[in-house]
Amino acid sequence: MTDTVIIYATSMGGHVRETANYIAKALNADTFDLKKQTVINISEYKRVILGTAVHFGKPLGALVNFMEANKDQLAKKKSIILFICCMNKAEKGEAQCTAISKDLGIADATFFPDSGEKNEDGISKDVDAFIARLQA
Ligand SMILES: Cc1cc2nc3c(=O)[nH]c(=O)nc-3n(C[C@H](O)[C@H](O)[C@H](O)COP(=O)(O)O)c2cc1C
Repeated sequence: MTDTVIIYATSMGGHVRETANYIAKALNADTFDLKKQTVINISEYKRVILGTAVHFGKPLGALVNFMEANKDQLAKKKSIILFICCMNKAEKGEAQCTAISKDLGIADATFFPDSGEKNEDGISKDVDAFIARLQA
């Protein structure tokens, strides 16, 4: 069994799903779409990666609800990492990411702006850098 799980909240565009699946392939992680499944046993995973889109400056409710419902399990994890897919870039994206990371209590947070430069798979190059960091 893999030690990494990616749990994500996406809205209509599926940008977060696409990003989560790409990261999962590289890290050999399990993935769960909170639209399809909200009860997830995370006890066996060492590393939990959470992903969300941003609506009106906030993470999607599905992720917030999942974190609330699983706060005891999450508190036991050594590694919780958040990625955010969003429209805002540069300083605005950074400020938004910092606010959401504070709100959710996840120190390790990264954002991937929709308009970021893409790799040959059509995925933001920032995602490749994120994966490389996690593989190091
Ligand atoms: C109703 C709505 C509100 C949004 N609000 C924000 C926002 O406040 N900040 C931001 O950076 N992006 C915002 N976005 C952009 C999405 O977060 C972004 O496109 C994301 O990549 C979508 O991921 P998804 O396709 O998985 O839902 C908004 C998008 C929608 C549809």
